[in-house]
Amino acid sequence: MKYLIGIDLGTSATKTVLFDEKGTAVSSKSVEYPLYQPQNGWAEQNPEDWYNAAITTLTYVVKNSGVDPDDIVSLGISGQMHGLVMLDEKCDVLRPAILWCDQRTGKECEELTEKLGLDTLIKITANPALTGFTASKILWVKNNEPENFAKCRHILLPKDYLRFRLTGDFATEVSDASGMQLLDVPGRKWSDIMINALGIKEEYLAKVYESPEITGYINNDTSLKTGLSVKTSVAGGAGDNAAAAVGMGVVTEGKAFTTIGTSGVVFAHTDNPVIDPKGRVHTFCCAVPGAWHVMGVTQGAGLSLQWFKNNFCFEEIHQANEENKDVYQITDAKAKDIPIGCDKLIYLPYLMGERTPHLDPDCRGVFFGLSAMHTKAHFIRALMEGVTYSLYDCLLVLKEMGITPLSMLLCGGGSKSKLWKNMICDTFSVPVETAKSSDAAALGVAVLAAVGAGIYGSIKEACDAMVPQVSDKILPDTDNTASYRKYYNIYSSLYTSLKVNYKDLANLS
Ligand code: XUL
Repeated sequence: MKYLIGIDLGTSATKTVLFDEKGTAVSSKSVEYPLYQPQNGWAEQNPEDWYNAAITTLTYVVKNSGVDPDDIVSLGISGQMHGLVMLDEKCDVLRPAILWCDQRTGKECEELTEKLGLDTLIKITANPALTGFTASKILWVKNNEPENFAKCRHILLPKDYLRFRLTGDFATEVSDASGMQLLDVPGRKWSDIMINALGIKEEYLAKVYESPEITGYINNDTSLKTGLSVKTSVAGGAGDNAAAAVGMGVVTEGKAFTTIGTSGVVFAHTDNPVIDPKGRVHTFCCAVPGAWHVMGVTQGAGLSLQWFKNNFCFEEIHQANEENKDVYQITDAKAKDIPIGCDKLIYLPYLMGERTPHLDPDCRGVFFGLSAMHTKAHFIRALMEGVTYSLYDCLLVLKEMGITPLSMLLCGGGSKSKLWKNMICDTFSVPVETAKSSDAAALGVAVLAAVGAGIYGSIKEACDAMVPQVSDKILPDTDNTASYRKYYNIYSSLYTSLKVNYKDLANLS
């Protein structure tokens, strides 16, 4: 039996899973790390934390599984997308990584759009200039930290920084590179026009591979620290959403999934680079060579509930510890007793600005309709409903583009909640199935590694062998759909009403 490892470098933790070649998880370990918010709308992490988490989790799964390291043929890395890691000539990290959810680069997006024009940006990178993407972050460093910009010699995404530490290679792959806004997305190669516009050199960027290709091997240092063999290859891997798609078998046209992780995503596979002319959803290369995907992103999905739990749910955390339960089982039970619409309390999940459909770094979270009758349970349910409405916004844009999924797979931490699954099913009004593996992104990159190592001839063949069948299909309840839609209509008009106020608030010094 051969074995594969999938590492998922997330925003709250890195999870590493060792799978056998049939896709069964043999051992897994996750290590959390902090997210720093030095200013409103900023989000940074320390790349050393990612590296330490990867070494700890790799060491654990290698030792704990009892598998002979020589049988671990290949490893894949999935990662939070868009983050900027800059290294100097000695390959030392120049500043904390600026993350996907950081919103400091509004001015730089305007600068890029003015310089290149919206049409050119969309034609080359398939997307308008976005605060979340890496290009505007590079420009921000150039404008605000010229000393760091001058010292910069390597620009990497989070998972590719980890690859560099594990293998010594500067490599990336098309799915994650698509989110840098430096890639010619239809052409699947770096764009000279984008590189020149930022004043960087192509040699600062990693070599671009297709996602299942082997980019290198575990180096001596990693082997000594983790027990992995230097013969273990490292595949390109994928950005976390493209990886989760593979881990759920969403690798052919017509298939779609929704994820509720820190961010929320509605993702559809396409055989061609279909582009929203208004730029409200992203078109990226997917992990399947020669294919693309379209996805809408809500910035504060699981993040909304996590923020509320961390700040206001001390009793629930205590109860969870006493009863040895997951705290979200307790918040779920409370929310379940509240009726649809939360007795007229509506939440807008814009804690970190919003991408789909508003593309607005300045909007922020709102509880609307607050009354003295509302309780903590109302807030919890309102948070879950608001995130569901923002995901429905994503689905509506996909539908406008002619992408109409007939059913929806659900994954990410939020998919563990039966209540949230029902909300998605009723609000979207499509059948919803839950991914069987709770580690879709880690499994996805293990699948890619299996293809890279030659265990399977194609991603489709590898998915058939390694991805478990979906489970627990539920159907929408038409009465509930009608109720949710009434609240959604008010939800969707609130952003327009507040748009100017958001700008005024952001402009206060
Ligand atoms: C996708 C995105 C997030 C991050 C974090 O565009 O920004 O999904 O990848 O998970």
